[in-house]
Amino acid sequence: MPSVPVPAGPFVPAGTVRIFDTTLRDGEQAPGAGLTAAEKLEVARQLVRLRVDVIEAGFPAASPGDWEAVHRIARETRGVAVAALARCRDGDPQRAIEAIKVAERPHLHVFIATSDIHLAHKLRLTREEALAEAVRWVRHGREQLGRDAEVEFSAEDASRTDPEFLLHVYEAVVGAGASTVNIPDTVGYAIPAEFGALVGRVVDLVGRDATVSVHCHNDLGLATANTLAAVQAGARQVEVTINGLGERAGNASLEEVVMALRTRPTQFPHLGSRVQTEHITAASRLVSHLTGFTVQPNKAVVGANAFAHESGIHQDGVIKNPLTYEIMTPQSVGLAGSQLTIGKLSGRKGLQKKLHDLGHDVAGDALDLVYREAIALADRKKEVTDADLLAIVEQRSGDVPLSISLDGWSVTSSHGGRSSGSVRVTLDGEERSGEATGNGPVNALYRAVDDAIRPVLGWEPTLVEYEIRAVTEGEDAQGRVFIRCRRSVDAGPGAYVATGHGLSTNIIEASLEAYVLGANKLRAAERDGSLAGSRRAVERLP
Ligand code: KIV
Ligand code: ZN
Repeated sequence: MPSVPVPAGPFVPAGTVRIFDTTLRDGEQAPGAGLTAAEKLEVARQLVRLRVDVIEAGFPAASPGDWEAVHRIARETRGVAVAALARCRDGDPQRAIEAIKVAERPHLHVFIATSDIHLAHKLRLTREEALAEAVRWVRHGREQLGRDAEVEFSAEDASRTDPEFLLHVYEAVVGAGASTVNIPDTVGYAIPAEFGALVGRVVDLVGRDATVSVHCHNDLGLATANTLAAVQAGARQVEVTINGLGERAGNASLEEVVMALRTRPTQFPHLGSRVQTEHITAASRLVSHLTGFTVQPNKAVVGANAFAHESGIHQDGVIKNPLTYEIMTPQSVGLAGSQLTIGKLSGRKGLQKKLHDLGHDVAGDALDLVYREAIALADRKKEVTDADLLAIVEQRSGDVPLSISLDGWSVTSSHGGRSSGSVRVTLDGEERSGEATGNGPVNALYRAVDDAIRPVLGWEPTLVEYEIRAVTEGEDAQGRVFIRCRRSVDAGPGAYVATGHGLSTNIIEASLEAYVLGANKLRAAERDGSLAGSRRAVERLP
């Protein structure tokens, strides 16, 4: 631990670890986790509620769709800094600056690799050339954004870079105007004591003039441990994601780092984060729902079993005093614990308050919609629980433009035989119908939707993944269907993949809702330019 108080850098209040959330950038780079602009905005709003300090909203040079998403978040969120990532090369920083300059607090994040392995095999640059590019683009960012904005520099693959060269780079970029220097453990190679020592050296060198930040990947399962070792060594910004989502094995998880700071204050003297931890569970559920990345039951802090006690000895202890086996309370991360919530006689106000307690502020038309669906569900189901309500709230399709709607369907299916389905849809205001057979009822209906829309669109959705889960227990449980799909005309691993989800007590209906939403997203992406190689460009990022 540093023996003298570490200055936090020009933009970080003393006593604070700045929480830089990169769920919408590094998290979205997890294969198959692509989000639409509307979904990104929804997650950004949840991050504002959580009170993170910085939202890294994306990589604007990747595609027009990415630029638009970052720009919307910069324009529509307040009380938070909005960061955009850019390579140190002509075009990228300008696109990023254009996207974020409307933000209340713009935060430009430029990076270049510094390890010999990346320089020789990926960038084909010498150390001197990489250094010159780093200095050039940091200076450019500072000149364009002025004194009051953040300009952050990341040395990609820092933990495998020659430490002497790395220190030289950090000193040079701080001289050129960087207010934050980030130390990424890009491939999750570092070990906590070693990483802490490296961070300490950077803090000693530039910690008086810049905030020292860390960005840890989880390839060896050490991302949280490395991040915490870095904080003890003087880092005052941590780059994290909800649920630890991110490239390969993911990034350090926000909930683990934040709850460790809060639960073990003596290990992090006089340091805290601004995060309202009561919103952690809602944020975790939302990200899991929109990306389709299920949280493993034994995941720290947000897993379904994180506060469950199975053995008799543990249950007995917790009943006598929860402190016996719980180091944090379920309430501190937003697990309210109550079950029965709404019946047919419940009012809008009560529902709004309940949703607020569950971490969702819903008002106006959105509240009316959730209310109608909750009441309709109460007609079909004995008990409408917290889990049902959360599923209804999360089910809203954001503002995805809906050019295709499902008007009706029927299907026949029997043991050992093929299934036949027919659907009626409205596509661009025109009613259409389709018929098909399939190896099961869902397959037959999906083919029937294809039959109805293919003649107009010239493609149909190709299913990449289909998953069905019960939201609650019991025979009348709602089924939630999650799918991933791409356009049939886009072959190959680089194709744009959209997600779709559906929720109903009838699993066929839920399956159709998910498929039609996926088709709508593909259509919207086709129209707004997000299809134009965006995944390919993003896949090249670290
Ligand atoms: O992992 C990494 O190196 C990154 C940088 C761009 C910060 O994501
Ligand atoms: Zn990363």
